[in-house]
Amino acid sequence: GYRAEDDYDYLFKVVLIGDSGVGKSNLLSRFTKNEFNLESKSTIGVEFATRTLNVDGKVIKAQIWDTAGQERDPQILLSKTECFYFLVLKKFLYRAITSAYYRGAVGALLVYDVTRHATFENVDRWLKELRNHTDPNIVVMLVGNKSDLRHLVAVSTEDGKSYAERESLYFMETSALEATNVENAFAEVLTQIY
Ligand code: GTP
Ligand code: MG
Repeated sequence: GYRAEDDYDYLFKVVLIGDSGVGKSNLLSRFTKNEFNLESKSTIGVEFATRTLNVDGKVIKAQIWDTAGQERDPQILLSKTECFYFLVLKKFLYRAITSAYYRGAVGALLVYDVTRHATFENVDRWLKELRNHTDPNIVVMLVGNKSDLRHLVAVSTEDGKSYAERESLYFMETSALEATNVENAFAEVLTQIY
């Protein structure tokens, strides 16, 4: 029958994390708007978008949060003293924002870029931060994005897969550009939460 747009059975908060430039914002826009942007700028602050999905006849509303994977360096803009106060303030704000970002999250996509090995090495750090701020039952999907850049691959599928197995995470390689596995990755997380 008819359902109003805001009529849903479950509301799930899912967070996107991972280094800057790995494609978090494009995964989000691909999933929620079927859009991709080759020249997207680094995210400022926190953004979120929603999409509803049907799972087992239930309407699940996913609220997906996105933020920048990296903070900018203040040294170039500020004097030494200003810099000191900026860093103190930043540390305080960063903690407040970080805990708000993770609060209530029941799912996470931890994204790295298959063409940049350093982004895979940092997965450890992101996982620690996630574990420090969320419930142990959170559903986490490790995502190797940009699988379309086959000739530039620096992290093998096997390495991604075995890391995920070791840490008990779900795993998928995606391409926000070609829309490969994007739907699957989000849908799998939402289904597992449900
Ligand atoms: P921050 O907001 O800085 O944390 O970065 P982000 O993780 O949100 O990355 P973003 O989505 O802005 O993408 C960074 C760059 O990678 C952009 O130029 C995108 O067009 C490109 N990109 C994202 N996903 C893909 C993909 O699947 N394939 C290819 N080839 N490029 C991609
Ligand atoms: Mg972004």
